Amino acid sequence: MKTRIVRVRQNAETFTPREDADLRSAGELIRSGGLVAFPTETVYGLGGDALNRESSRKIYAAKGRPSDNPLIVHICRLEDIREIASEVPDVALKIADAFWPGPLTMILKKADKVPPETTGGLDTVAVRFPSDRTAQKLIEYSGGFVAAPSANLSGRPSPTIARYVEEDMDGRIEMIVDGGEVGIGLESTIIDVTVTPPQILRPGYITREMLENVLGKVDTDVTILKADSGQAPKAPGMKYRHYAPKGELTIVEGKPDAVAEYINRAAEADGRNGEKTGIIGTRELLSEYHADVVKCVGNRGDEETIARRLFTVLREFDDENVTKIYSESFETAGLGQAIMNRLLKAAGHKVIHV
Ligand code: TXA
Ligand code: MG
Repeated sequence: MKTRIVRVRQNAETFTPREDADLRSAGELIRSGGLVAFPTETVYGLGGDALNRESSRKIYAAKGRPSDNPLIVHICRLEDIREIASEVPDVALKIADAFWPGPLTMILKKADKVPPETTGGLDTVAVRFPSDRTAQKLIEYSGGFVAAPSANLSGRPSPTIARYVEEDMDGRIEMIVDGGEVGIGLESTIIDVTVTPPQILRPGYITREMLENVLGKVDTDVTILKADSGQAPKAPGMKYRHYAPKGELTIVEGKPDAVAEYINRAAEADGRNGEKTGIIGTRELLSEYHADVVKCVGNRGDEETIARRLFTVLREFDDENVTKIYSESFETAGLGQAIMNRLLKAAGHKVIHV
C-alpha cells in the first residue's frame, strides 16, 4: 500500500479549500474502511471507523497491537456521546463541561452499536472529544466516530510529529495528515466514570488536582506509578511495556549533584564496554553531563516542555542508535505524574536511588 501524506495546519481557525478537500478525502477513506493518521492536541492518532469492526481489526494489524487492548473512540460533538454510551452519568456531563473538548478520555458503559473489536471485548467504551480543530474536522468528515490509538507501532513512543508516524506506518495505512508538532506530547488523561468515586486509569495533561476541583474525590489506579503493586492495571494498554526506546533506559533519582555524578560514572563505564551512551537531562544540569549524546528535555520547573519533549527525545536516541540511556527523575505531582508514568514504562521501571 502506498501511504499518501497531506499537509493540513494543525488546529487552524479556517481551512484553505485545498486543506478542506484533503480532509474530506481523508474522511472518505475512513468511511470506506481505510486508516488515516492525524494530529490531535496530545499525540498523533491512527484513525479508523469506530463502528466498523473490520476497521478496528485493521488498526490492530497496522500497529502490531494485541487485540485485547481497547481503542479510544473520538467524537466531534458532545451530544454524540449518547450514541456510543448506554449510560451517561451526571459526573460525565460535569467532566465534559469542564474539560471537553480537550485531552481527556472517559470510560463509559458501551452502547450496542460499538463493536467488541473496538473495545477489546469489554462492555465499556473509551470516549474522547479532542480540542484540535483539524482532528474535529476529520472526525466530522469520517462520520463522527473515529477509533484512534496513538499512531506508533505497538511498543514504540507515541508520535509527536508526522515523520515519526511515517517511520512506523509507511506502507501500512492509506494516509497521514501532517499537522506539524503536537502541543501536549503525552496521551490524554483517562478517567473511568463507571465507578464511584471516578478513577484515573492513565495520568495526563488534565491532572488529578484539576479533576478534584470539579468532582471532589477522585481515585488513581495504584498501578500507575508502582511496578510491584501485584495488580493488573484497569486500562488494559497500561500493562504493556510501552514507549520503549531501543536502548536500555535507567532512571536515576536523588540530589542533583549525586544524580549527575552517578550518571557520568555509569555512562563512562558503559562507554568503555563499547556501548553508545545517552543522557536525558534538564537544562540546569546539562553542562555537568558527559556521554555520547546528551539531550535536554527542558527547564526542571517547566513540566509542559518536558512533557512535549519526552517522546521526541526517546525517538531521537533510537535514531542515533544509543544503547544505554540514563535519565533524571521528575516530580510525581501534577503533570509530573504523567511524565514519570511514561518514563517509568519506557524504563521497564528500572530506577536507581543515589
Ligand atoms: O491522547 C490520546 O488518548 C491518544 C490520541 C490519539 O487521542 N490516543 C491514545 O490511544 O493514547 P491508545 O490506544 O494509545 O491508548 C488507549 C488507552 C489504552 O491504555 C487502553 O487500554 C485504554 O486506553 N482503554 C481504552 N478503552 C478502555 C476501556 N473500555 N477500559 C479501560 N481502558 C481502556
Ligand atoms: Mg498508545
